[in-house]
Amino acid sequence: MENLSFLKKFKRYLVTSALPYANGPIHIGHLAGVYVPADIYVRFLRMNDEDVVFIGGSDEHGVPITIKALQEGVSPKVIVDRYHEMIKRSFEEFGISFDIYSRTSNKIHHETASAFFKKMYDAGQFLEKTSLQYYDEANAQFLADRYITGTCPNCGYENAYGDQCEKCGSSLNATDLINPRSVLSGNTPVMKETKHWFLPLDQYEPWLKKWILEGHKDDWKPNVYGQCKSWLDQGLQPRAVTRDLDWGVKVPIDGVEGKVLYVWFDAPIGYISATRELTDDWEKYWKDQETKLVHFIGKDNIVFHCIIFPSMLKGEGTFIVPDNVPANEFLNLEGDKISTSRNWAVWLHEYLAEFPGKQDVLRYVLTSNAPETKDNDFMWKDFQAKNNNELVAIFGNFINRTLVLTQKYFTGIIPGIDNLTEYDRQTIIEMKAFPEKISQSLHHYRFREGLGEMMNLARLGNKYLTDNEPWKIFASDPKRTGTILNISLQICAELAILSEPFLPFSAEKMRKMFNLPQLKWKDAQNGSWLEPGHKLGKVEFLFDKIEDPQIDVQIQKLMDTKKSNETLHSLLKPSKPGIEYDDFGKMDIRAGTILEAEKVAKTKKLLKLKIDTGVDVRTVISGIAENFEPSEIIGKRVCILINLETKNLKGIESKGMILMAENPDGKLFFVTPDEGTQNGSVIK
Ligand code: 2FM
Ligand code: ZN
Repeated sequence: MENLSFLKKFKRYLVTSALPYANGPIHIGHLAGVYVPADIYVRFLRMNDEDVVFIGGSDEHGVPITIKALQEGVSPKVIVDRYHEMIKRSFEEFGISFDIYSRTSNKIHHETASAFFKKMYDAGQFLEKTSLQYYDEANAQFLADRYITGTCPNCGYENAYGDQCEKCGSSLNATDLINPRSVLSGNTPVMKETKHWFLPLDQYEPWLKKWILEGHKDDWKPNVYGQCKSWLDQGLQPRAVTRDLDWGVKVPIDGVEGKVLYVWFDAPIGYISATRELTDDWEKYWKDQETKLVHFIGKDNIVFHCIIFPSMLKGEGTFIVPDNVPANEFLNLEGDKISTSRNWAVWLHEYLAEFPGKQDVLRYVLTSNAPETKDNDFMWKDFQAKNNNELVAIFGNFINRTLVLTQKYFTGIIPGIDNLTEYDRQTIIEMKAFPEKISQSLHHYRFREGLGEMMNLARLGNKYLTDNEPWKIFASDPKRTGTILNISLQICAELAILSEPFLPFSAEKMRKMFNLPQLKWKDAQNGSWLEPGHKLGKVEFLFDKIEDPQIDVQIQKLMDTKKSNETLHSLLKPSKPGIEYDDFGKMDIRAGTILEAEKVAKTKKLLKLKIDTGVDVRTVISGIAENFEPSEIIGKRVCILINLETKNLKGIESKGMILMAENPDGKLFFVTPDEGTQNGSVIK
């Protein structure tokens, strides 16, 4: 069955972009994969007067958030508040033109997700199953998703998560992991019974096969279609949509406590909640077959947007399903996978601070190098070359030369056309083809290709101007100079329109320079708004060269990161095997103060300390003489283990041990109790 979706005229568009987890800032991988293409698409639709809403927001639930909170020792709310604001601000500054950027901790989302689940639950659409799941006895917690790590059964990666292997991208069940370990304690977990609700994906399989394998063979990208086909060929299993956690949307079933909806159940419903928040008219976007729903996502989200969420929408019964899911592959950075934990990334907020006013340069580079069909690399040298050799030397140079020449010869007033040469006629024919060409590319989600065509238009203009050399003939033939500049100006103005989806900041600058109103895509073809006699605005440079030192700083930053990752990794001591809680509980550690310190005669390493432990004043021999002078540590607050067996060192009885922290390079530091503690305070 051939799919004619590209040809079908829809009444309106609903465009969503993956909701990023609010557990860290946005990096170029997110931008290239999801937000830049989505923004280009939406800006293009708006210029075509389409009714479109563009939905974004933060994904604030799930284990990625609670793990981050755990690492920082703060509540999940602190984490999501911090990153939601940061992400929202940097998207705004970067020109991602969401109609709404919402968040899943909002009340409206909790209500929407609860109601969605409840409707399916009441209609008997979930399976209720009691099964054995991994449980961390020391922490009394079930180990959902990323709370468990182990070896990936597919690729052997040792730190795969319970829901996914980040190395090979495969989606996993916790029980698939080899040598599972709890992230909380490092212990091997035990199995414990728990009840959950499952979405019977197997029941949706026939429908999914027809809808995707038959219906979208021709219009979904091969990478997306291929992943779906492989899932469907393997056969689908029921999938749990609830978790034993306390952070998330509470399971709305009477009598059920301590369980929340699986983050991948609630997050895509976030698109619906955000639309509700945006407009009272939200149902026309979600419930009318004449709406085209398009999800922009990265490749790791394909199964959720093409199989699970559509099954939920189908099960609920009143929603449309996506028309397309143009997922991208991954962007790497200088040959290495982007990684938040290894700080191997170009962070958007840092880019915006370090390259002020250069949003379009990054948009340009990420689009021209977009991982549309395969993983691609971002290289700083390539970023510089694309700016200097393409944006500055071709696009900017053409616009600037045309404007400056028009100022010089015609005081910034558009000259009329005299006779057209064959070259002129050919150029006009060629330039008129671009709006349709780019439009085709964008309708088919080929953003790289569309951007390439936009640059070809700039190349056409640049070549036309260079070949015709209007500056050489003004004295002898001012009318010919006028004709050449008129045609060049038409190309400039066409560029001002067609570049808007890709380079919105530069397009706005160009509108000012040409003294033009906000124009529509169709205006690129008729050109009637640039009549002879129209006065141009002030000339400015659109782009400027990026010099080596600016790029060297960025490359150095990455080299430093690499070096410190390597050092840390090679020097950090491996973690010790797990212990029982009671093992720790046996230690009596107290806050204390060093009252006296002196070297132990005839030794290099030992200091004799007199310490007030709150309980008593005692002598401790400590091996820190090479690191500290006795005089500098008198009065120092310390943590001291007071029930360690007494040891005789150089004829002195040592009663206890002070706690020290040792850096990978061997440097020692005191572990000092915080202000407010008193000698004798129990450390536990
Ligand atoms: O992979 C991620 O970053 C998810 N937070 C994407 C969620 S997309 C949608 F379903 F909300
Ligand atoms: Zn793997």
